[in-house]
Amino acid sequence: MMQNLPLKTVVLGTGGTIAGLAANPAKSFNYTAAQVDVVDLIADLSTNTASTLVTEQVAQVDSKDMTHALWHTLALRCVYWLAQDDVQAIVITHGTDTLEETAFFLQTLLKPKKPVVLTCAMRPANAPDADGPQNLRDALVVAAHPSASGVVVVCAGAVHSARDVQKVHAWRLDAFSSGGAGHLALLQAGVLQPLGSFHQGHVATASAAALADLSRWPAPAAWPRVEIVWSHAGAHPGALQALLAQGVQGIVLAGTGNGRVHEALLPTLRQAQAAGVRVVVATRCADPQLLLADDAPPEFPDAGGLSPVKARIALLLELLATHV
Ligand code: SIN
Repeated sequence: MMQNLPLKTVVLGTGGTIAGLAANPAKSFNYTAAQVDVVDLIADLSTNTASTLVTEQVAQVDSKDMTHALWHTLALRCVYWLAQDDVQAIVITHGTDTLEETAFFLQTLLKPKKPVVLTCAMRPANAPDADGPQNLRDALVVAAHPSASGVVVVCAGAVHSARDVQKVHAWRLDAFSSGGAGHLALLQAGVLQPLGSFHQGHVATASAAALADLSRWPAPAAWPRVEIVWSHAGAHPGALQALLAQGVQGIVLAGTGNGRVHEALLPTLRQAQAAGVRVVVATRCADPQLLLADDAPPEFPDAGGLSPVKARIALLLELLATHV
């Protein structure tokens, strides 16, 4: 019976600065990410979590090099562990560079009822003032909280939703923000101070049912190609045309301001859409919420307030759903 089983929290290691090592710890800005096994990160942690911690090293990468293949593997490991009755939550240690993309990918795909908490660090594990241990402790507190559910990100004492979180700073410990949407909760000295429930906002849902069976997915190399194209001063359609010639199936246009597109890109974008390429417009603004007109449908669908990298994932999963 479930109530007789000791509850487990599974900590999946994927690499990142949280598992990084500096050759000279006194100069910890000069380090190599993804060196320390997750089992050692946990062993060095003083924590009084009530559940048993189980670790699994899923990967050991610098997250700037994240791949679709690794996302696929990580999703499969999450599905496996979440299905175990005695597993109450998953914590994932991850690099900060693409953490927001992995979080959004997992939330959009899995929509887990149990908590899946991604955490990270801005300083390597052997820095004298490493931030990873406290972030990991905080992630375990959030993972054990009764109202925690779905994929969230914990960093520098704040809990962010997968949908809204973005890396906004290259070196500050508090490197993440949820923009105008705000974070979900704060942790003070390791104690959670909820601001609201751990809801996930309006995360895209189109693909969920079709994608539920991960075993039916094509190999990651055969996933639809979705690319981001930027609108900017002096824009030229050449890059867009080259992508279309390569058979790209989806384009996220990172527009200026309220998702606006340079006139030099519009004819090619229209041709692409008419030819069946999915075009979605986001904004390159740091806070990706768009103000939508309610009197006429837009020429190109908007990204629903997702940042360009997350709009790319949402469109990728939507296109994948038509392949499985
Ligand atoms: C990474 O993203 O893996 C390296 C950078 C970091 O974790 O801060």
